[in-house]
Amino acid sequence: MKTLEKRGAHIEVWPDLAELSERGAQLFAEIAGQSVKRHSRFSLALSGGSTPKALFNLLADDAYAERMHHLWRGTEVFWVDERCVPPDDPQSNYRMAHEALLSHVELDPEQIHRMRGEDEPERAAEDYAQHLQSNFGTSDPAFDLVLLGMGADAHTASIFPHSTLLNDSEERLVAAPYVEKLGAYRLTFTLRVLNGARCVVFLVSGREKAEPLRQVFASTERDAGLPARWVRPAEGSLVWLVDEEAASLLD
Ligand code: 6PG
Repeated sequence: MKTLEKRGAHIEVWPDLAELSERGAQLFAEIAGQSVKRHSRFSLALSGGSTPKALFNLLADDAYAERMHHLWRGTEVFWVDERCVPPDDPQSNYRMAHEALLSHVELDPEQIHRMRGEDEPERAAEDYAQHLQSNFGTSDPAFDLVLLGMGADAHTASIFPHSTLLNDSEERLVAAPYVEKLGAYRLTFTLRVLNGARCVVFLVSGREKAEPLRQVFASTERDAGLPARWVRPAEGSLVWLVDEEAASLLD
């Protein structure tokens, strides 16, 4: 494994998705343990897409069951973003996480905070923002861990290139952007929540991510075409777990 430090980010380059996911599971358990020890709670926000599935499967496996057993009790599971579909829809980020991980570990329903993709988008975004504030007891929720992915267009969460959410004056915690390229609404954390996290971990795998990853770390300013470049926790840590294919153009 090779490590790089670039622009305040700690980058780990792993041979392939399997080893990247193993590292991700280990880091997840470490952060969960530190968080529960520090404040008897582990607040977690999950992304969707395909990359995190292997990590979720590992965490659901016996190998982590023992290590995570007493930690799941203090865990509060949220989502970074969601498609505007019902929870049983194949596109649902909730459904993917539930099938791969949450249905295999000991969590009470009250510990699982689903974004309501089936509701009218603006209403669902506002409701989730209210829920965040009441669960964290503040209008600036600081997640112990936010798991992010990055698309081949350098989007992250559901903040896509040239989104109006790419600005520092965005006060909302959760938004419901209409994504032209998808022809669909999404629910998403804004940068205010992402950059308020104690730890952000990106999981990026595959050759199609090499060029956007190169651009993200080559860019000297926050380019509106590169949303992932805008994620930089104000006080928290930023870790990129990438595989060799995705890192192939990084110098
Ligand atoms: C989503 C995700 C999204 C994802 C990227 C990468 O809802 O799709 O939250 O931001 O992380 O699109 O997706 P892959 O892991 O499938 O490449």
